[in-house]
Amino acid sequence: MKPITEILVIHSPNEMLEYRKTLSNNTIGFVPTMGALHQGHAQLIKKSNLENDITIVSIFINPTQFNDKNDFLKYPKTWDQDLTMAKECGAQLIFAPNYSEMYPDDYKYKIIETDFSKQLCGAHREGHFDGVLSVVMKLFNLVHPQKAYFGEKDFQQMTLLQGMVKAFFMPLQIVPVPTLRESDGLAMSSRNVRLSLEQRKIAPLLYKILQTANTPEEATLQLTKAGFKVDYVEDWNNRRIAAAFLGDVRLIDNINLSVI
Ligand code: PAF
Repeated sequence: MKPITEILVIHSPNEMLEYRKTLSNNTIGFVPTMGALHQGHAQLIKKSNLENDITIVSIFINPTQFNDKNDFLKYPKTWDQDLTMAKECGAQLIFAPNYSEMYPDDYKYKIIETDFSKQLCGAHREGHFDGVLSVVMKLFNLVHPQKAYFGEKDFQQMTLLQGMVKAFFMPLQIVPVPTLRESDGLAMSSRNVRLSLEQRKIAPLLYKILQTANTPEEATLQLTKAGFKVDYVEDWNNRRIAAAFLGDVRLIDNINLSVI
């Protein structure tokens, strides 16, 4: 990877709003991230770069979406590589606020979806999607993109964001991007770097077993035998969606049941 030559970095929400005004004649594509960028993010940024005049990437490890403090503290941070990758994939601007700037209300105001956000991952991570929806609403209000790009690996997140945009008449399009996988099938994720060598060997079985098991129950049994601690496996709207731990690393994945 070549070192970055130039990319604009904005930290303050007010500066972001001011800068956005200068881009009014451009189409804006937006890729919200929590950093630790990998090839999956690269794919989102490149797609945005192809479809818009300007691509903005946000990097903010959002504490309100972590139900587990350790998971938040251990979230990988790779700032320099992130800037290089974002720049190489065609992003022009990084928005990287801190907590007090993003939450001047200290999270007294929230966006809450009361149905689907309480199922699947939501049933196992209390308040997770309240945090996701709230921060993404804030980011959308600051960046005002025409299109925002999200990976299908986080299928529930993407579906909830589509619902939020519709419910609040927000003038932007959520663009779903298919999951990028390692050659052995493991879905790319910032958390993968936290897997031990042994766990990394087992991890691709999540995808494999979701595809080959006849039922969610069978998948749960096989994953448990392989060494996973299963949070859930459920079939929802023609998708088989799952979350499972290897040690303290929580992996999620999903498959489209209509194409297997
Ligand atoms: O998918 C993520 O990385 C995060 O949930 C998001 C959308 C950037 C919100 O913090």
